[in-house]
Formats: sequence, C-alpha cells, structure tokens
Amino acid sequence: MSFTPEFLEQIRERTSLVEIVSHHVKLQRRGREFVGLSPFKSERTPSFTVVPDKGFFHCFSSGEHGDVIGFLMRMEGLSFPEAVEKLAQAAGLEVPRDSPEAAAQARRRRGLLDAVEATAAFYERQLRLPAGRWAMDYLHGRGLDDSTIARFRLGYAPGESAALMQALKQSGFETETLVEAGLFRLPERSGDPVAALRNRIIFPITDRRGRPVAFGGRAMGDAQPKYLNTPESPVFRKGEMLYGLAQARDAAWRAKEVIVVEGYMDAIALSQAGITQTVASLGTAFGENQLRALWQLVDEPVLCFDGDEAGQRAARRAAERALPLLVPGKSLRFARLPAERDPDDLVRQEGVAALRTILERAQTPVDLLWSHETEAVRPDSPDRRARFSRNLMALASSIKDDTVRRYYEAEILSRLRERFGVNLRPAAGARREAAPSGGGRERGEARIAGLRRRLVEGVLAAVLNHPALAFEFASEIAELDCAGDARLDRLRQEILRLAAGGEGVDPAVWRANLESAGLSDAVRGVLCEAVYDLAPFARPTVSEQEAREGIEGFFADCRSVAVERDVAAVAENSDEELLERILALVMEARRLRGRGGK
Ligand code: UTP
Ligand code: MN
Repeated sequence: MSFTPEFLEQIRERTSLVEIVSHHVKLQRRGREFVGLSPFKSERTPSFTVVPDKGFFHCFSSGEHGDVIGFLMRMEGLSFPEAVEKLAQAAGLEVPRDSPEAAAQARRRRGLLDAVEATAAFYERQLRLPAGRWAMDYLHGRGLDDSTIARFRLGYAPGESAALMQALKQSGFETETLVEAGLFRLPERSGDPVAALRNRIIFPITDRRGRPVAFGGRAMGDAQPKYLNTPESPVFRKGEMLYGLAQARDAAWRAKEVIVVEGYMDAIALSQAGITQTVASLGTAFGENQLRALWQLVDEPVLCFDGDEAGQRAARRAAERALPLLVPGKSLRFARLPAERDPDDLVRQEGVAALRTILERAQTPVDLLWSHETEAVRPDSPDRRARFSRNLMALASSIKDDTVRRYYEAEILSRLRERFGVNLRPAAGARREAAPSGGGRERGEARIAGLRRRLVEGVLAAVLNHPALAFEFASEIAELDCAGDARLDRLRQEILRLAAGGEGVDPAVWRANLESAGLSDAVRGVLCEAVYDLAPFARPTVSEQEAREGIEGFFADCRSVAVERDVAAVAENSDEELLERILALVMEARRLRGRGGK
C-alpha cells in the first residue's frame, strides 16, 4: 500500500513528535531541542535528541535518525504502513485506501474529465463555424490573436442545447455523467436536459496539468449575467483553481514571478502581451489554497486587482486571509491600478511598460493594510489613533508564524512611533532625549503608563472574580510588573500565595483571606467601576471564558510590546547575526511562557 507525500506530510504536521517520544523517553528541554536517554541503547548520559522544529530525532549513541513515523516503527516494531495508520488514527485523519470504492471513484472522475474535454473540443469547433462567427469577431475586436485564442482554447457555445447533446451522445457519454460534470441541467419538471452555457463565449477552466474541468461563459454585449460558470463538481473545486495556471506555470517558474488578476480576459490579455506568468482568481475570493498553489512556484505572487472599489476590497480581504499563512520567505504583494482600470484596459491602452511600472511599485501586505486602515479610520484624533493602532496590531496578531509576526509587530509599532510620536511602551532612551513634541510626549507616556496600570488591576480583579484563573495564569502573574505600586504588588503576591496554597476557587473565601491579610483596601481598589470601565473582562458578571480571553489578550499585548522593544534595541546595532540570535531567544522565552501558562 502506498501513501501520497501530501498525506504523509499531513501526518507529520498534525502529530507532535515530542509527545510521541515522551511516551517512551523522559525528555528534558535544552534550548531548541529535547534530550533524554537513548531508547535504543542503554546509556548513562543522555545522547538522544529530538528537534521539534525540524520534526526529527537523532540518537548519537546508536546513530539512529528519523521522523515520527520512523520512531514509532523502531520503538514499537511496526511496519511503515502500520506506523502510518496508527498515527493517522491518533490524529483523526482518514487513511486513503486502495479499495474497490476508490477505484470506482477514480473511474467516475475519468469519465467526467473525458466529458468536459469532449465539450471543450466541441466549443472550439463551434467558434470556427459560421454560427460562431460573431463570437470570433468579438474576440478579435478585443485584441486577441488566433494563437492566443487557440492557446486558451476559447470557444463558442451555441444558443440551443441539442447539438452539444447529440455530439456527446455520439461519443457514448451518459446524460448522468453530463449532469454531474455540470455541463447540462435537468429541467425542473420534464423535458430534455439543458446546456449550462448557451450563446456565450467559452473560457475553459483547466487544472494545473491543462485538462479542462469546467467552463466560464461570457455573454456577448450587455446581456446579464456577464459571466456564468459551470457549477462545482467532483473535478471542479473553485477554491483550489486558478484560471490560466497551466499556461502560466513554466514562465512563472522561470521568471520567479506570478501575477494574479481578477478576470479571465485580464489573464489572457496579459499573457498575449508577453506577461505569460499571469493567472486569474476566478472571480471568487482569492483564498488559502490558491495562495499555497502559487507559493509552490514563487515566493511572492503579485495580486493585481481592478482599480475600482470592489477590486481594492478584494485585495484587502486577500491580505487579511494571507496573514495567518505567512512564513519567512513566503509572502505576496499588491499592485494598485488606477481607479476604474483593469489590467486588460491598461495594457491595451498604455502598453506593457505602464503595467510593469505599476507591478514594480507593488505594496507589501503591511503597506497595504496600513494605507487601507488609514483610509478607513482616518487617524486624526487620539481616539481614532488608538483604534487605528489596535486594528493594525490585531491584524498582526493573526499571523501564526512567530518570526513573521514579531517583525510585523515591530514594523507597525515603529511606524506608530514615527507618525504619531507614540511609544506604546516607553523605550529606555526616549525619555532622555528632548523630544521634538516637547512635554506632549511625556504626558502621553504618563497616560499610557496609567492605562497599563489599570489593565494590571483589571487582570487581578478578573482573577479575584474567577479564582480558577489564578492557577491558569500563575506564571504570568508571577512576572506581572506592578510599576512600583507596593499595595498592588502585595495583592499580586497574596493572590499567588492563595493559588499555590490550594484555597479552592470560591471568590468569597479568597476575599476573606485577603481581608484578614490586611488587603481590604487593595481589593476595593481593583474591584471598582474605574477598573471595569477599562477592563470589561474583569467584571464579576462576565463568564469565566470571557475573563480568560481578556487576560490572555492583555498578556499577548505585553509580550508583543516587550518583543518590539527588544527588536528595536537590537535593530539599532544593525548586527544581523545578533538580531537573529535575540529573535531566537525571544521566541524561546515566549514558548516557555506559553508552556508554563497552560
Ligand atoms: P470582470 O467583470 O472584471 O471581468 O470580472 P473581465 O474578465 O474583465 O471581463 P470583460 O473585460 O468585461 O470581458 C472579473 C471576473 O469575475 C467573474 C469572472 O471570473 C470574471 O472574469 N465574474 C464576473 C463572474 O463570475 N460573473 C459575473 O457576472 C462577472
Ligand atoms: Mn475587463
């Protein structure tokens, strides 16, 4: 039995090597690795190493080396397929099987692909018959030449359904297959199947190997809707398709560039103009699977959506959707067309050079989000600036990759500092210099320190109202900085003591304990409206889950601010190597804290 590389990759992704190894070996963390005594050889000093980032283990005493599947095979004496099945089961993944059902399904898919291919050939022929004459004229009128028309296999669907049905029947296709492939629709009551696309110019949509899987059909003139697509089918999943990928692949790979446009006509026009490495997003939102497909070819696809409002909204959505997926080395860019222009208009009216200039000025995601947020929020008052910075930091926090997220946070915070003179956390050096904005900056800093203290009070209040959370966040609370407020700091310590002392989770019992410890005033100081106003998650009426999320948010902010400060300090040295090291240390510290907290 064989497994696809994708499936094996999925298993490695969903499985924690450290966890599996821990069932057999007592591991200790050492920096980025874990070490323990070799399970393969008896030894006194640990030489068995697990590197979670890389997903492999290495045993220095026996020389054994492998991934999670290899570990299970050796440890439990399993065959490769047995180990894979066991891990798949644990990870809740279904193992693809060579079963009779799978074979039947593959046959069905092949039947659908054959039907779509026969239909594509039919439409191509129609375009060259007298009935398709005006369709051909239309395409020529839009500047397409014959070799482009042939390369994209453009066609024409006649106004009535019978000719296509007849041709397909002659080739032996069953009506059922044609309906499943989305080529025909059964009428609601009775009668003959109706072709999905009629009297339209046909754009075959192909898979990455160039096999047609569906069709887009453009009405001629102003008939509505302008475009119709055949529906999704077992061979056509919209979210994974990119129009023109088969034609663009080679060029994209060679040029290390790929342009994503919105329309079929845009992709074709750019391709004909010499930018062969162009694909279109099928009019639907540009999503995760499409981005991943392009990342296999290039590191930074360039999105070049229409200059109108809809196009810009789509670009922003694409940026938001891309953020969580970013990893070092894989990103994307956004080219901004003049309003009311699409790429096809632009190359035809102003030439390829004009488009090239626009492509070269493509924005990074952070630039795009910054300028969109500027337009949406117009940060011209302190309140709006607060909203503006919160929105941007929230976007950055959606990035899953630690390294990328930290650079985004650092970039956003440094821009906020530059534009608005705001230090979300006063940097050590900032106070010494005579700031150009004079006392305004210092007042701003004092205010931010005040806000921060209120939030610290909020965290303690939330914990007093939900003592169970004191256990969960004990290690964070242990590090909480009370900014020199001795009374608050005593309350913090007493809370930790209660959490450690097993006082249960009854808020009333905790309150009584704190009162007898002489902290009544401190308790009253945090359980009050002024604190709840700023930290609504601390209110006694919110659920424990909401309180937990509030506390988590607070600590996440603290971490990002601390990281930003470290990065900024090191960046001043512009010592790449040192920067890398510090980043690694910060990441490590964050990971450790994450472990302790949960
Ligand atoms: P456009 O209207 O920008 O298409 O829609 P276009 O390719 O530039 O068309 P021309 O230049 O007017 O001929 C962009 C894409 O959105 C989808 C299609 O995939 C189209 O290529 N779309 C658009 C639809 O699916 N249905 C529609 O009614 C309109
Ligand atoms: Mn257009």
